[in-house]
Amino acid sequence: MPDAESLLAGDHRELDAFSTEAFAAFARKDALAAHVALDHLWMRLAVHIRAEHKVLFPALAGAPPEVQSLIQDLKVEHDVFMTALARFLQDLRKPDADLPPIAAAFTDMHDLLQAHNHREETQVYPLADAAEGLTIRINQELTFLPERYRK
Ligand SMILES: [Fe+2]
Ligand SMILES: [Fe+2]
Repeated sequence: MPDAESLLAGDHRELDAFSTEAFAAFARKDALAAHVALDHLWMRLAVHIRAEHKVLFPALAGAPPEVQSLIQDLKVEHDVFMTALARFLQDLRKPDADLPPIAAAFTDMHDLLQAHNHREETQVYPLADAAEGLTIRINQELTFLPERYRK
């Protein structure tokens, strides 16, 4: 099994694939497909965030203050992503959904998510304990989702 750092970074790449699908759907003005892609992103990101909150961040409780401060910022951003995605899904379900403003707001959220993921991959994930237990628990969290949300 890959280590914890590779599992979480690999999950970022899988999340990216749903964003790519959403951008393609917005480009062809397909509200239903955009909803499907963002619904998958919403579920998968929730599972990813839960693995970070339940397993990764507690394992870094002994990290230096600057890392603790960064983790606090990352947690705030997690709430921003989940709130934004819930709003996009709600807006996309409306029969007269106006796609360009939703696409623009999603682009902003996506930019923030890319910067967030980069900070995790360069400043947080490399600190993850290489202990077998951590990797197994992160893998359990990431694979704990309904079948229809698997890629
Ligand atoms: Fe995160
Ligand atoms: Fe992450």
